Amino acid sequence: MITDSEFQRIVTYVKKNYGIDLSQKRVLVGGRLENYLARNGYANYDEYMAKVEKNPKGSEATDLVNILTTNHTYFMRESEHFEFMKNVALPWAKSKAMGTKDLRIWCGASSTGEEPYTLAMVIQDYLGIDHKSWDSRLLATDISKRVLEHAMKGVYLKEHIDPLPENWKRHYFKQIGPEEFVVKDDLKKEVIFRQFNLMDPLPFKKKFHIVFLRNVMIYFQDDTKYQLIQRIYDHMEPGGYLFIGLTERLDRRMMKFNYVQPSIYRK
Ligand SMILES: C[S@@+](CC[C@H](N)C(=O)[O-])C[C@H]1O[C@@H](n2cnc3c(N)ncnc32)[C@H](O)[C@@H]1O
Repeated sequence: MITDSEFQRIVTYVKKNYGIDLSQKRVLVGGRLENYLARNGYANYDEYMAKVEKNPKGSEATDLVNILTTNHTYFMRESEHFEFMKNVALPWAKSKAMGTKDLRIWCGASSTGEEPYTLAMVIQDYLGIDHKSWDSRLLATDISKRVLEHAMKGVYLKEHIDPLPENWKRHYFKQIGPEEFVVKDDLKKEVIFRQFNLMDPLPFKKKFHIVFLRNVMIYFQDDTKYQLIQRIYDHMEPGGYLFIGLTERLDRRMMKFNYVQPSIYRK
């Protein structure tokens, strides 16, 4: 059983380093870490946390993030956003970037890859034969190495790619087993996966036209969330679009983005 002080130690560490608020998640924290501690020979949570705190970039700390984050995602999730991309955001970004032919799109909590690959297909589809003359690669980041490795492999079950249109499945995936498909190299090249903690200063030199930051800020407390929103605002082109999860809300009084429609904002 996790003690009060052990639980508090984990909550404080995770909040400080990753912005994630686990204070109401005692059962989840205890449940998920218990097996890990037993498998790795730790006598208790404190012994483990001492190791994590000593080396926040080490493998124990990485394991902690991998175990405690929730990575649920799927292809075509919140599909109205992709309609909006095709009809509004991409036409705007294309006209804005006409001089450089460089579309700058960032997916900030890309998890196992379903979201950035969906975006890459939407972009390819939208640009059509023009895509060859554009740099339309998108940046996909997440804090968890485990999900990034999954995403880079690009292997998904048949039932997972089911929500995609038939012609996209044929065009962008190759069957490699009775139930398994892999993303073809041409599409993989369109997505650049990198590890990035949203709590860190944004290291990007160029400003983004479009940012997807869906279903991740639910774990952040308000102060952390609006500081992040401000950093993103500063790294976007005027007129750029920000997409958040459909069930999430941003308070207009706390930030500079303009409201477009639920879950879509504009600089
Ligand atoms: C529920 S998934 C959302 C995936 C996708 N955006 C979607 O909407 O389907 C949340 C993701 O946020 C990532 N995450 C949590 N805290 C993070 C942080 N501080 N920095 C970067 N990524 C983080 C998790 O690793 C997880 O993959």
